[in-house]
Amino acid sequence: MLRYSWRFTILALGITSICCAQTLREAADRDGILIGTAVRPPQLSEPAYASTLAREFNIVEAEDAMKWWILRPDQATYDFRQGDEVVRFAQAHQMKVRGHCLVWGRYNPDWLTQSHFTTQQLSQLLQEHITRVMQHYAGQVFAWDVVNEALDENGAVRDSLWYNQPGIGLSGQGKDYIEQVFRWAHKADPHALLFYNEAEGEGLNRKSDAIYAMVKDFKRRGAPIDGVGLQLHVPALDADIPAIAANIARLAALNVQVHITELDVSLPVNANGLPRPEDLTRQADVYRGIVRACLNSAGCTAIQTWGFTDKYSWIGSHSRGARGHALPFDRAYAPKPAYRAVMEELSAGRSPAH
Ligand code: G3I
Repeated sequence: MLRYSWRFTILALGITSICCAQTLREAADRDGILIGTAVRPPQLSEPAYASTLAREFNIVEAEDAMKWWILRPDQATYDFRQGDEVVRFAQAHQMKVRGHCLVWGRYNPDWLTQSHFTTQQLSQLLQEHITRVMQHYAGQVFAWDVVNEALDENGAVRDSLWYNQPGIGLSGQGKDYIEQVFRWAHKADPHALLFYNEAEGEGLNRKSDAIYAMVKDFKRRGAPIDGVGLQLHVPALDADIPAIAANIARLAALNVQVHITELDVSLPVNANGLPRPEDLTRQADVYRGIVRACLNSAGCTAIQTWGFTDKYSWIGSHSRGARGHALPFDRAYAPKPAYRAVMEELSAGRSPAH
């Protein structure tokens, strides 16, 4: 009897060590998958926020702290304090940091948008910004959203400060300004992974076709691009998972990485701000499908939610309170059905076929 008991004990220990991850981070680490979330520096001092963040995730991304309007309060000033706080937290908890975002046509500070800079001045300002910020975070930020949301729903280059209002001197030349920015970024930090990050171009549509064509062209001509960020702000409970999976696969086939960068699945709420119970179950199914679509493609290497607790999400304020409850943890940091769905998929790991 004794002989069999020690064998059983060893078997049980062995099974425990390879199975039964207790957190998203443990499950993801087992397969070398990056699981992360957007963070807000003021919340890092909140014990439940910090402990949940460090326990469940292995990468973080500043929700706003590395954007122009925080980093550059005026033309002469760089303020890295909030971004540095995110990096310090990550370093203290052995986490990686994604940078977001170097070039976006929206939410830029007034001194930048209201000063009537010439194209030459904007070109110099933008290259200086990219260089200074990437060199400040060199070795600390492993991947950057270099350009964010530059295309419209038809895949055309959006009008923007950086393209043609008045732009950096490449107005009317399509995606040339995007390529120029990627080349500046690569020169600033040759070791950082450089991503194009986009919303509503996650499935198969004109925008995702345009992203695919742009990446294919960049790769063909040796323009430095390493990946595409699919934001995946899912506003409805009927995400087209097969189309998302197909888009991930075709991008990965271009030999670039795909990061799911801003995943959240918002729900309609009632007058008391509460979702329907059945919607929480459907939300879990959407999270499950998207995580599985990523895990089924070796080229999809990171899954990030845009915040992790419903206590702090952009959606409430940006939907005038009509939607919310979009994230894996509720306002009290309790795991929701969505969390359990992500946990199950991460625990199941990458499908052997891919
Ligand atoms: O902190 C100030 C506060 O002091 C001030 O009183 C208040 C009113 O003006 O503004 C507060 O700053 C707001 C900030 O969120 C923090 O709440 C900014 O106005 C507001 O513009 C900012 O919104 C952010 C938005 O990007 C624009 O930068 C959201 O937090 C952030 O979640 C959202 O994230 C974007 C990604 O960067 C790109 N993809 C889409 C995603 C959602 O829009």
